[in-house]
Amino acid sequence: MNISREDFDYVSRLVHASSGVLLEPGKEYLVEARLQPLLRKEELDSVASLIARLRASAPNGLHQRVVEAMTTNETSFFRDLHPFEALRKLIVPDLLERRRSQCRLRIWSAACSTGQEPYSMAILLRESFPELHAWSCEIIATDIASQVLDRARSGRYSYHEVSRGLPAAHLVKYFRKQGSDWEIHEEVRRNVQFLAMNLTRPWPPMPKMDLVLMRNVLIYFDLDTKKKIFARLRQQMAPDGYLLLGAAETTLGIDDSFVRVSGDRSGWFRLHKP
Ligand SMILES: C[S@@+](CC[C@H](N)C(=O)[O-])C[C@H]1O[C@@H](n2cnc3c(N)ncnc32)[C@H](O)[C@@H]1O
Repeated sequence: MNISREDFDYVSRLVHASSGVLLEPGKEYLVEARLQPLLRKEELDSVASLIARLRASAPNGLHQRVVEAMTTNETSFFRDLHPFEALRKLIVPDLLERRRSQCRLRIWSAACSTGQEPYSMAILLRESFPELHAWSCEIIATDIASQVLDRARSGRYSYHEVSRGLPAAHLVKYFRKQGSDWEIHEEVRRNVQFLAMNLTRPWPPMPKMDLVLMRNVLIYFDLDTKKKIFARLRQQMAPDGYLLLGAAETTLGIDDSFVRVSGDRSGWFRLHKP
């Protein structure tokens, strides 16, 4: 099963044009491996037949499924832990002070994958900031991939998924066992609104965000794409809002409207001139 150079280039162009994700030469094995489930579903015998079918038709659902198959959806509850500690000890308390007169908080988990990130945020707020019950507190979670969003909306996770990062006490308190899976309580599920959204296409109208979690997605984009996303983010964030990126991501050298702040073994970004 060796993908031809032309077929690899085709997939790589399709994925880049549709999602911004870069697939550089050397990733042939990844393309082949990730397309296998789709081949089985479509009852096709090779990657070459799949690409032939894609080439023969205008962009449709199959093209989108190939793009989704090539996105990396790796995530976990309270991923990397330290950013969530910084949120609990420093960032949310500061936002609470700043928004006390409006009693309103808006949080965006951009590229939320299967939902562990926004649900971790919802659990953190419930656990540590009970006064937010009386506030209007929105958590919007978006992703390009409809399949991961369907899973996120279901709020259902395997034992393996809930074993990664979720403290046992939270599992018992916020989930109930459903067969071999664990389902998040309805009231936590309702705290998060999931929407399909491609970060590289025009963004739908959204309110200004007090806190943006855009973690572990920019690493897949080229410099030009990151620049465009940061330029939009500047408009989308409240001037005194907070931005959290993944551990390997930064605005430094890409957009100097942001300044990096560190604290509590973590780092975040704020607009230079709030
Ligand atoms: C590695 S996951 C990160 C999940 C979570 N933020 C975390 O840090 O654990 C990256 C997510 O980015 C999404 N993604 C990739 N390209 C995207 C795009 N152009 N627009 C929106 N989401 C995208 C993928 O579908 C995937 O779910």
